Amino acid sequence: MAGPKKIDRIKVVQDIINRKKSTNYLEIGVLAGDAFLRIKSRRKWAVDPDFMISPAKKIRYYFKNPYNILNKYFRMESDVFFDTQMPMLSEYGIDVAFVDGLHTFEQSLQDVQNTLKYLNKNGVIVLHDCNPVSEAAAYPATSIAQVRKINPPGFDGIWNGDVWKTIAYLRATRKDLRVFVLDCDFGLGVVTQGAPENMLDYSADAVQNLSYRDLSENRKSLLNLKDARFIEEFLKNRK
Ligand SMILES: C[S@@+](CC[C@H](N)C(=O)[O-])C[C@H]1O[C@@H](n2cnc3c(N)ncnc32)[C@H](O)[C@@H]1O
Repeated sequence: MAGPKKIDRIKVVQDIINRKKSTNYLEIGVLAGDAFLRIKSRRKWAVDPDFMISPAKKIRYYFKNPYNILNKYFRMESDVFFDTQMPMLSEYGIDVAFVDGLHTFEQSLQDVQNTLKYLNKNGVIVLHDCNPVSEAAAYPATSIAQVRKINPPGFDGIWNGDVWKTIAYLRATRKDLRVFVLDCDFGLGVVTQGAPENMLDYSADAVQNLSYRDLSENRKSLLNLKDARFIEEFLKNRK
């Protein structure tokens, strides 16, 4: 008998879409479409300057998941997407976004802030890579190629960058957002409109200066880290 399904980014995003009967899904940073092509949602927008999805794979996934027939692909960086697609985003709004583009604090924060401008009421942002397992995985850099070149001690090919600081930043500065991180799949940050459970007592500059050591010593409180199954309780208690 199959056990319970592993809780990962795909399950969390799909559970949110299903529970909220969402139609408008945005994914920033798509690569080979491992998540994007599996997600079932009426409108799906994919943003990546460097897609790695072959035409044959796209066709295969029309059959595996017919929701893919209406997909819209935007081969561009996320900042350009938000600058050029204002009319579409304003018309429909975003129900669920999976933010998984460039793994820097600055860009992940910018992606979340831009998404928030179009997030529909009760919309949810899921931010990948918020709970790096090692200092090497959390190495602040501008690309994985750069991290490979530097090859910090302990680097094993996994790069989450300093996306975790976006969670700390939002938890320190935004009184209007509820923010927590699910402890699965390198840390899935969940951001919604609403009152925070509690806030961090840091200035924006202090967040910028946090180190990996600060994270490893205060992981639970900095990230508002929750067991992955918390997503079920969270969704049950929300409209
Ligand atoms: C980790 S991969 C995404 C994986 C995918 N979300 C999944 O779950 O299978 C990160 C992707 O972000 C893309 N990326 C990098 N910088 C970006 C930017 N500024 N805007 C959008 N995507 C970006 C990269 O090209 C890469 O394909």
